[in-house]
Amino acid sequence: MAEIKRVGVIGGGLMGHGIAQVSATAGYDVVLREVDQGAIDKCMGKIQKQLARAVEKGKSTQEDADAILARITTTSDYGELADCDLVIEAISESLPAKLEMWKEVDAIVKPEAFFASNTSSLAIIDQAAQTSRPERFLGLHYFNPAQVMKLVEVIRAVTTSDEAFEAGLEFARSQKKLAIPTKDKAGFIVNRLLVPYMLDAIRAYEEGVGSVDEIDDAMKAGAGHPMGPLTLADFVGLDTMGSICDVLFDEFRERRFAQPPTLRKMLSAGWYGRKTGKGFYDYSGESPVPNPGI
Ligand SMILES: NC(=O)c1ccc[n+]([C@@H]2O[C@H](COP(=O)([O-])OP(=O)(O)OC[C@H]3O[C@@H](n4cnc5c(N)ncnc54)[C@H](O)[C@@H]3O)[C@@H](O)[C@H]2O)c1
Repeated sequence: MAEIKRVGVIGGGLMGHGIAQVSATAGYDVVLREVDQGAIDKCMGKIQKQLARAVEKGKSTQEDADAILARITTTSDYGELADCDLVIEAISESLPAKLEMWKEVDAIVKPEAFFASNTSSLAIIDQAAQTSRPERFLGLHYFNPAQVMKLVEVIRAVTTSDEAFEAGLEFARSQKKLAIPTKDKAGFIVNRLLVPYMLDAIRAYEEGVGSVDEIDDAMKAGAGHPMGPLTLADFVGLDTMGSICDVLFDEFRERRFAQPPTLRKMLSAGWYGRKTGKGFYDYSGESPVPNPGI
């Protein structure tokens, strides 16, 4: 089986920076591509902060943190991905954007490299089939924060070869993740179940069943969840969640996947959750408070 040594990560947002960090921690050389220097600085700032915190807490040594950072190179040039053995994309959840990106990457990266998408909801085949290597294309779906969450769903498209699928499983395990194979059905296992749950929480709020914090507190105390569903939605990013809903709704045509009006209005207002400082909660103070605007 082709050995993976050099990993390209495209997109350094919420997920991409975590995937880059986890990959470098597992000993891979990482090339991270973002759109411009500002986005690269933001991404590397987050990785540096997390590594510094691990050293402070005694979970890592300064030498290890330095070595991890040294294994990550950054670029806004697709050309630097040419020698990668595996390229994982974690750009925004938009099929046209992902296809445009793969067109560039497919033309540059060596033909024997594997490609993987971290999409939360899009069927993998819709990306794989548009590249010159559908048999070397698979899904590697990490969870947020990728540094902490144990699961990686490894998704086999109808075109994915045994070699590529095994390489994906092995890659996730080399990062000490639990690799769970899933079929290429929109939403895979976790989001198929989790997204309707978060949407139901928004509908419960709309119907006045409880306030934002009452719904969250109830699910924490009553179902033993570490985080309430509305806090979780803010954490995922409401823009990402909106895109996931649209994909799932298009695919299954079921009301349970439709965006509730409250979510749609929040997206129009630019309230994307923690990443913009406002979502179901307002994050501008010392601790989050329910957003009075919704
Ligand atoms: N947010 C989550 O909880 C979560 C969990 C698992 C998977 N995902 C999936 O991961 C992907 C990324 O989500 P996110 O939450 O990290 O989004 P995000 O908005 O935090 O980050 C996306 C990043 O991609 C960058 N980008 C856009 N086009 C690019 C390109 N052509 N080249 C390089 N960089 C580019 C943007 O500048 C941005 O920094 C999506 O497909 C999403 O569905 C998200």
